[in-house]
Order: sequence, then C-alpha cells, then structure tokens
Amino acid sequence: MFFYVMTRIISSEHPDAICEAASVLLRGGLVGLPTETVYGLAANALDGKAVARIFAAKGRPHFNPLIIHCHTLEQISNYVQLNDDAINLSEAFWPGPMTLILPRKKDCKVSELASAGLSSLAVRIPRHPIAMAVLRQADVPLAAPSANSSGTISPTSASHVVQSLGNSVDLVLASGSCKVGLESTVLDLTADKPVILRPGVLTADDFLGVLKISPAYEIDQNATMKSPGLLLKHYAPTIPIRLNAIDLDKGEALLGFGSLKFMGVRGGGFASDLPEESICNLSETGDLYEAAANLFSMMRALDNSSHKGIAVMSIPDKGVGIAINDRLRRAARG
Ligand code: TXA
Ligand code: MG
Repeated sequence: MFFYVMTRIISSEHPDAICEAASVLLRGGLVGLPTETVYGLAANALDGKAVARIFAAKGRPHFNPLIIHCHTLEQISNYVQLNDDAINLSEAFWPGPMTLILPRKKDCKVSELASAGLSSLAVRIPRHPIAMAVLRQADVPLAAPSANSSGTISPTSASHVVQSLGNSVDLVLASGSCKVGLESTVLDLTADKPVILRPGVLTADDFLGVLKISPAYEIDQNATMKSPGLLLKHYAPTIPIRLNAIDLDKGEALLGFGSLKFMGVRGGGFASDLPEESICNLSETGDLYEAAANLFSMMRALDNSSHKGIAVMSIPDKGVGIAINDRLRRAARG
C-alpha cells in the first residue's frame, strides 16, 4: 500500500479535496479534517489497521476509545442501540457538538480497537460542511480523535495539526479556524441516568429541554472510570499554568478574560504594559462562546519558553464556562 511520505495540506475549497480525502481514507490512510469543534484525525473505523495508525500517530494509549463520526442517524443505527433519549437528542442537536455513548450492537462492524474493547461506542454527527462532505463521499464511519499528539492542546487550525502530528498524517484539509473551539460534549446514555462525561458548549441545561431529567456532570469524579480518556494528562502546555490569577508575576504571560484594567504586575506596573506577545484576551466583552473559540489557539500562542508560565484570569463556572474551566484545570494539572 502506498502512503505519502510528507503530509500534504490542501485547501478544502480545492475541487478535488473531498474526493481525495475520501480516497485516502478508503485506502487506509489518515486525514486531518476540520469539524466545528476541533480538527480531527480521521480513519476508516471499519479498518482495524487504519485505526491502529491513529493510535500510533497520536501516541495514544490503546485503552482510550475513539469517537465514531457518521453522516446520518440511520448510519449510526448500524453500530449502536438507539433508545428514545438518543433519538430525541439527535433530532435536537445533530449535526452538532454532541457525542453520545451508547451500547455497541452485537454485529457492530466498527473495529474493536476503536472502542478499546468496551461494550459501548461513542458516536457523533459533526456540523462542519467539510467533515460532512467527506463522511458522505467516503460513506464509511470515521474514527476521529482530536488531531494532536496525545496529552497536548487540541488543534483548532490546520497548521496546529501539522505542528503536532507532522508527517504521520497523509492529508490535511485546511479550512480556517474551528468555530466552537472546544471538543464536543460527551453524554453517556448507557446507565440509568444520563451523565456528562466531558463538558462542552452544549450544557446540562441545553439537554434538559429534551431529556426528562438534567444530566449530572461527572467531571474529575468517577468519570475517569467511564471515560478512559479523562484519566490522562491533557491539554498540557510546555510551561506552567496558574488559574484564577488576580495579578501577574514577573515573567508570566497573561491569558485574560474581560477587562484587564485592574491586572497589576507584582512589584509594580500593569499587565497592559506587557509586550503584545505576552497578553491574550479570551474575550474582552466576557463572552463565554468567544472565549471557548479562542482558548486553545491562545494557550498555544502564549506557550513558549520566553514566558515562565501563563497566568489565567478567573472564568465564571457557568454554562460554557464549565467546559472552559475543565480544560484549564487539566492544562494546569499537566
Ligand atoms: O469534538 C470532538 O469530540 C472531537 C472532534 C474531532 O469530533 N473529537 C475528540 O475526540 O475530542 P477525542 O478522542 O480527543 O476525545 C474522545 C473522548 C475521550 O475522552 C474518550 O475517552 C471518550 O471520548 N470516549 C470515547 N469512547 C468512549 C466510550 N465508549 N465510553 C466513554 N468515553 C468514551
Ligand atoms: Mg483529544
């Protein structure tokens, strides 16, 4: 089998982009492709060897299962047992940034490696037109984790994918920055009560409109047992992250939120005196959706050895802020 020696990046607007991506996937290759949340590293989920290449490219532990992306609910119904909650949620939120954990069907043809041997499977229909076009063209389910090496910050642009995974990807479809910027909300429907294993821009309040009971968040608690990926070091920048900062230490970069007017530097001075490359503001107006979309690219921008760390201002722990704080806590722990 032939694979490209060097990663090729092509604009998703190129007339051959979608066909080329589908053909690489059907030959067992890896494609970096945009979704509305983050860029994914896609492989044919029915092809065990191709799925194994995802784990190798990311350096991902084999016990950490992947999300299976499809283009219709009908396609999904080949692989998992749907219940009423799943059907109602799919009508409300798919295509979109929601992943459902459902029981794997007995005759499910998705590679066992993709779901790490579990009896459940994570499924999602993405909203990005390019991801959808590739899914339709290839017409196989695509296993796609975030397209970064395991444990590092998720990619929200094609250049992040290349920086993180280099030549281990056969083709990257470039299509600007991801609008949502945080990975999908992972909602487990396999137990008696629905549980959010990974918070995202869709929140418990959003799901409450469809489910009869509000799903519980299991962040940092038993979720580690149910969602193996959450056990791991994640989103780790190369320099320390300090949360809920009310002032700056000398040498630190600032990741702000809202007004920076009152941010001082210990020993004298204001944050606004820092050089431009040492300050990013997630959202000057305090908009949590804007902050979510900026989070990963701004963490990357400040993550360099000219700073001794990144001080992050506090973000309200409400709505989308829950997901932002979840990612920040993991980054700080890393
Ligand atoms: O937005 C997203 O979800 C992106 C885009 C590319 O779709 N994908 C993504 O995949 O974030 P990944 O592999 O980086 O994260 C998947 C998460 C992991 O925490 C994994 O442990 C969990 O979903 N997961 C996958 N299958 C599971 C299962 N059967 N049961 C519990 N958790 C599961
Ligand atoms: Mg990931």
